[in-house]
Amino acid sequence: MQEILAARHRIVLAARRYLDEQGFLEIETPMLTRSTPEGSREYLVPSRVNPGRFYSLPQSPQIFKQLLMIAGFDKYFQIARCFRDEDLRADRQPEFTQIDLEMSFPEPQTIFSLVEGLMGIVFGAAGREAQVPFPRLDYRDAMDRFGSDKPDTRFGLEIQDVSAEAAATPFRVFSEAVAAGGVVRGLRVEGGGLWSRRPIDDLVVVAQGYGSKGLIWIRLGNDALTSSSLKALGEEGCRKIAASLQAGKGDLVLLAAGERERTSQILGAIRLHLGKTLKLLDESRPHLLWVQNFPLFERNEEGRWVPCHHPFTAPHPEDLAFLEQDPARVRGLAYDLVLNGEEIGGGSIRIHRGDIQERVFRALGIGPDEAEHRFGFLLQALRTGAPPHGGIALGVDRIVAILTGSTSIRDVIAFPKTNSAVDLMSGAPSLPDERQLSELHIRVDLPPGVRKS
Ligand code: AMO
Repeated sequence: MQEILAARHRIVLAARRYLDEQGFLEIETPMLTRSTPEGSREYLVPSRVNPGRFYSLPQSPQIFKQLLMIAGFDKYFQIARCFRDEDLRADRQPEFTQIDLEMSFPEPQTIFSLVEGLMGIVFGAAGREAQVPFPRLDYRDAMDRFGSDKPDTRFGLEIQDVSAEAAATPFRVFSEAVAAGGVVRGLRVEGGGLWSRRPIDDLVVVAQGYGSKGLIWIRLGNDALTSSSLKALGEEGCRKIAASLQAGKGDLVLLAAGERERTSQILGAIRLHLGKTLKLLDESRPHLLWVQNFPLFERNEEGRWVPCHHPFTAPHPEDLAFLEQDPARVRGLAYDLVLNGEEIGGGSIRIHRGDIQERVFRALGIGPDEAEHRFGFLLQALRTGAPPHGGIALGVDRIVAILTGSTSIRDVIAFPKTNSAVDLMSGAPSLPDERQLSELHIRVDLPPGVRKS
């Protein structure tokens, strides 16, 4: 634990020095603030002197750093503590640290080069090396080839499209999926043609866990060809599909059919499972890459448009015209940094024009009154004339965890919280005493079955 925290210290110190050398100024932004929309629930802090009012703890310094650019600080950074009340996992804590930065007049390339230099220094501080520049992948290609927006590129096993060959077979599942605008995609598993049924059936179960109705397989044994759908596909159909995946004797072909994104996600999950269980991961060097040109919006569970990143991301200039008519088609000037299949950073070029910011709010269902109420201070600042600006935030905890070989970010944080957001040592969160609550004009209304202490 002490060694890990010492490594963390060296990493953060190296980052600070590098950004200072690059002319960035470290500026602290408030912790007691207003809502900062990054898509999670917020932690609220009651104000004693303003009864009934609450501050939000920042999910990130996003709006403040943009305001700093508008105020004329051309290069800002901060080792920033962020707070998000979200479901916790091995790579998520309720409070975590970002290397947060912003600059005026950047292209995405400017941020990429800056961060590649930064990662070189950060890796060096941990006794590792990062090869620059990092490869770049469009979001679309990441989804098509890896079934994930944070592809693990430590191994191949890429997803391939076999829609044309599959639709030409008599198998209705395939032809109907393609006729409905979907796809048939597959993986070629080298050597899998010699497996017994058991591990193949296990993969079908993995696929079902990700909502797949079925995973179709073709096993190219040394002598015979077997398939989950031999009758429907015909031996010739199987061979044609296998050939288009460059699969030969001894290989296994796995196929899924349906809507483009969903199908890729299912095969992406199978790909990851195989990469880990077959030990295909290249651990000899870190695999870093940029994923760029994300969609600007995605639909949430209720079918509403929400930002893929946050609502201040600039739409791709070529897609601006579709903002109102076809939001699904609009790409954002957003990018993520991925290390060994984990998202370690995210950023974008921002909207610097008030009128475009208002159009994006409207596309998100935030009308002019609500926009003015929630973000009036930002809109007003944008209207005064803002320089084009952009930046990124890197997750310190995730980077340190990967560089120190820790399986959870809990292991690289002093006094971390459990997956139910509890600090077991101090006992936080706790119920304040009656006097504190009454000073804050707060009455606690516990659901039935929850005890006070
Ligand atoms: P984003 O929300 O993508 O972007 O966060 C940036 C990076 O912070 C890390 N991270 C976390 N680490 C630990 N626990 C969490 N709960 C957690 N949530 C996020 C990740 C992630 O890539 N304001 C934007 C940045 C920008 O646009 O400049 C932002 O916060 O490594």
